[in-house]
Amino acid sequence: MKIRDSGMPDEAYWESLFDVPLILSRLGIERFHDVAELGCGYGTFSVPIARAISGTLYTYDVDPDMIARTKERATGLRIVCEQRDVMDSGFGVKVDAVLLFNILHCEQPIKLLRYAASAGREVCVIHWRHADTPRGPSFDIRPYPEQIIEWGREAGLEPSSDVIDLPPWHYGIRLALRPAFPSLTRTRRGS
Ligand SMILES: C[S@@+](CC[C@H](N)C(=O)[O-])C[C@H]1O[C@@H](n2cnc3c(N)ncnc32)[C@H](O)[C@@H]1O
Repeated sequence: MKIRDSGMPDEAYWESLFDVPLILSRLGIERFHDVAELGCGYGTFSVPIARAISGTLYTYDVDPDMIARTKERATGLRIVCEQRDVMDSGFGVKVDAVLLFNILHCEQPIKLLRYAASAGREVCVIHWRHADTPRGPSFDIRPYPEQIIEWGREAGLEPSSDVIDLPPWHYGIRLALRPAFPSLTRTRRGS
């Protein structure tokens, strides 16, 4: 099902709202090999990410027009761009990092973070600040960074960065899989 408030405005207007190179650099995207993304949208982030990483970008959207536009811009790049309802089916791949950009105002954020945590070791989130931004979901569903950290913990993730300033309108946060608990199978001899 399409996530609430996830419709897109005109492409040129949408792309005027981000400093894409700054966002990707502050999140350290070039460190990753394979990456998965929920919501390619117009390919605003997908195309530069595919150029920056050493492996393949797997990007999914429910909207066939968004898939078509991203594919058109992605010629020659290592991108798998497919129609998929991620809230229904998860990511279906194992990657180094999962990107949740402008989407954690969804109806089931912990479910989405669990899907992300089962697909990648790191999860990079960006979202609109709680401020007078020119766009973004309504304040009652727009998450604060503290809220994302709390949801992440419920999904087995710990913050691996401070809150990252992504001017003009966004913040980011990186989450990483919590190390596994020490093995409980080691017992004293004879016990
Ligand atoms: C707000 S846009 C963000 C797009 C892109 N991440 C960006 O920041 O430019 C959200 C995108 O997610 C897609 N989307 C919404 N619900 C989805 C779902 N359940 N599975 C996959 N994509 C979905 C929408 O069609 C839309 O293109």
